[in-house]
Amino acid sequence: MICFVLFLIVPIALLLWYKRADADLTLLWKHFSGQDELSKYKDQVVWITGASSGIGEEIAYSFASLGARLILSGTRIEALMKVQERCLDKGSPKAICVPFDVAEHWSHEELHNQIIAEFGEINLLVNNAGRLQRSEFTATNVDAEKELFNVNVFGIISLCRVTVRHWLRTGQANAQLYVTSSAAGKMGSPFSSSYAGSKHALHGYLETLRDELSCSGSDIRITIANPGPVRSNLRANALTDKIGKKYNRDDSTSQRKLMETKRCAELIVSGIAHGLDELWIADQPLLLLFYVYQYFPSIFRRYLINYVMTKKQIEKFRKGE
Ligand SMILES: NC(=O)c1ccc[n+]([C@@H]2O[C@H](COP(=O)([O-])OP(=O)(O)OC[C@H]3O[C@@H](n4cnc5c(N)ncnc54)[C@H](OP(=O)(O)O)[C@@H]3O)[C@@H](O)[C@H]2O)c1
Repeated sequence: MICFVLFLIVPIALLLWYKRADADLTLLWKHFSGQDELSKYKDQVVWITGASSGIGEEIAYSFASLGARLILSGTRIEALMKVQERCLDKGSPKAICVPFDVAEHWSHEELHNQIIAEFGEINLLVNNAGRLQRSEFTATNVDAEKELFNVNVFGIISLCRVTVRHWLRTGQANAQLYVTSSAAGKMGSPFSSSYAGSKHALHGYLETLRDELSCSGSDIRITIANPGPVRSNLRANALTDKIGKKYNRDDSTSQRKLMETKRCAELIVSGIAHGLDELWIADQPLLLLFYVYQYFPSIFRRYLINYVMTKKQIEKFRKGE
């Protein structure tokens, strides 16, 4: 009898999971069951980079609704001011715009000091700014890669360093660091090798920082999110194989099938609130591939790769099909 029930329940549960899940099981469970955790952000100070559009903009609205005080960063001041207005409407008691280019790492200490002078503290740094890159590995110019790494890696890591240094110096309680990586930070990403390399690099830095913080007895929490394709301006603004060369592909129509930006941001905010280490956020079949890649890498590399990593299949993933 037990065997019969198991035979029936296990396939049904797997089918339901495949049809409905758009994040790893821990995150889905915390998101579903633990909304109380979110209330702790009332009046907390949250600094969000990449807040002028896409995922960062929606993260800003989520924290605004929770009553957090916000510092909104990006390079486009007009876009930031629109986000600021909506954040104040949604319930943020204070929201300011601090436009800057994250690649200019020499400015980070000064900006950080200005924010501390105005708010007294930063409780959560949401390091979300980033650029995409699309080009073939063999065609890519090192200078174009450096431009990408200056934003996606050195800019992000420099801001983390300045902020964590301050937290350790002041012994601030409940400090949290968040970084938006990507599915491409865990797996290969054909025709986006520099992007995948930059996102993989973040994991190396942040896992090591996590270890060093543990060695020093610090309780600073680090959360890294790995979203699959999500609707945003990312693809339209992608870098390519050479500096200054535009990525001339209009994929605005195909965006409709991608994960909604708001849904991605809500899952991220839940994951941060629960202090989860790593968040996998993706629609199927990418989510299933995540699991296979993580837990059965030999099967993925030896057998699945021939079916999954074809030009046609990659296009389908990126269109959310
Ligand atoms: N959308 C996806 O499918 C997807 C999937 C996985 C991971 N991600 C990651 O999610 C993050 C947000 O991207 P998104 O999808 O929301 O794309 P997006 O709409 O293009 O947003 C990118 C944000 O990053 C900011 N940014 C870019 N370069 C910057 C620079 N040099 N200095 C300061 N800010 C800069 C942009 O600000 P300005 O425009 O004002 O410069 C913008 O606010 C990125 O790290 C991306 O890699 C996205």
